[in-house]
Amino acid sequence: MSLKLLDTVPDFTQESTEGPLTFYDWAGDSWVLLFSHPKDFTPVCTTELGAVAKLKPEFDRRGVKVIGLSVDTVDNHVRWAGDIERTQGAAVNFPLLADADRRIANLLGIIHPNASDTNTVRSVFVIDPERRVRLTLTYPASTGRNFTEILRTIDSLQLTDNHKVATPADWQQGEDVIILPSVSGDEARTLFPAGWQEQTAYLRTVPQPS
Ligand code: BEZ
Repeated sequence: MSLKLLDTVPDFTQESTEGPLTFYDWAGDSWVLLFSHPKDFTPVCTTELGAVAKLKPEFDRRGVKVIGLSVDTVDNHVRWAGDIERTQGAAVNFPLLADADRRIANLLGIIHPNASDTNTVRSVFVIDPERRVRLTLTYPASTGRNFTEILRTIDSLQLTDNHKVATPADWQQGEDVIILPSVSGDEARTLFPAGWQEQTAYLRTVPQPS
């Protein structure tokens, strides 16, 4: 199975560094960042988990719970966490699913056999409180991810869920946004009474609504 945008993430129960974890119960009403890495005790993964641990307050601020996954045991996760804290200067402050039997990896479709028969790829799922997939990313084992970009995308998703706007290339929090092309001129005048910049009929920008 491969999860596509707006698919519902299936529920599952699996061992984790915080004990047996049932995904829907754990997620509650929060957004979720679920990310997989290929293997414990590997260098790129070590830097990634340290990076996410340091950014955890930023995910918290956005109401996003964080959970990692690889096809390793709880014992390995716990031993590796010591290396992460020592080398990256940040303790792992979120659960790691211990998917040694690959049950959840297969459920989520994050083993790509042409990349590796045995290990998960670097997948990212941003999941909304309705358990729907809102972002997927797949990175190769040799490339560590940019988790600041994932925060930026979450900012965009949370903004555009609440306003009839989209965010342009490289948008950052506080910058101008685009009025959805589906919004008519009449509706735009109601929604954005202060007006907008019109570069073409379909490219209309306004200050970011709050
Ligand atoms: C790493 O995390 O460093 C890594 C994992 C699998 C293959 C290559 C690199």
